[in-house]
Amino acid sequence: MLFGTFASHIYHKAHQIVESWLDTFEKQGWVEWQNFLSMEHAMAIRQEIEQVQMKNGFRQAGIGKSNQQHVDTGQRGDFISWIDRMESLPFTHKFIEQVEGIISELNRNFYLGIQDFECHYAHYPPGSFYKKHVDRHSSGSSRRVSMVLYLNPDWKEDDGGELRIYRNDGDFDSIRPQLGTLALFLSELEHEVIITSRDRMSITGWLLNEKIL
Ligand code: OGA
Ligand code: NI
Repeated sequence: MLFGTFASHIYHKAHQIVESWLDTFEKQGWVEWQNFLSMEHAMAIRQEIEQVQMKNGFRQAGIGKSNQQHVDTGQRGDFISWIDRMESLPFTHKFIEQVEGIISELNRNFYLGIQDFECHYAHYPPGSFYKKHVDRHSSGSSRRVSMVLYLNPDWKEDDGGELRIYRNDGDFDSIRPQLGTLALFLSELEHEVIITSRDRMSITGWLLNEKIL
């Protein structure tokens, strides 16, 4: 009897946690999920990103559709390295498995038809930014939901580098790129990264409504 009550309480709590991010996402089209990863897990990914950076280097990110990319540092100043999901480093791999859980929840609740996922490491050096843009362009982009995992311990307001997500009325909400925080937002929403005064690391990804080759 006692055990039954206890077990249903646990279930209820777990259920509530799942509901709250989905509710917020449904209401506003975006959600800031603080402590999505433990500090230990997030720091381990941060070390993996630095490992990849030293070994292979990152490339200056481009803008435009994938077949007509060009670098425009007046638009965005980040450096990236695409992640091969089959060969990703262990802690990055574990995070990607957690994203797969998010994808099933989103599909079950909102019928978004997410079928695939692409992601890269990103590094914004001091002084860099990404001006206001959308990730889903009208020209048949398969990006439905954008996702950013931040990997920066002790981020202060003065450090800049916040993600701004714009509402219809032109006002915006801000997300601080704090270690372990996950930002999820509809790729059609306008957003920008304001100028950062510190190195700003993340994994940025997109949930796609078609399979990539
Ligand atoms: C992007 C982007 C946001 C962020 O890479 O398209 O908008 O907070 N990134 O890094
Ligand atoms: Ni973007």
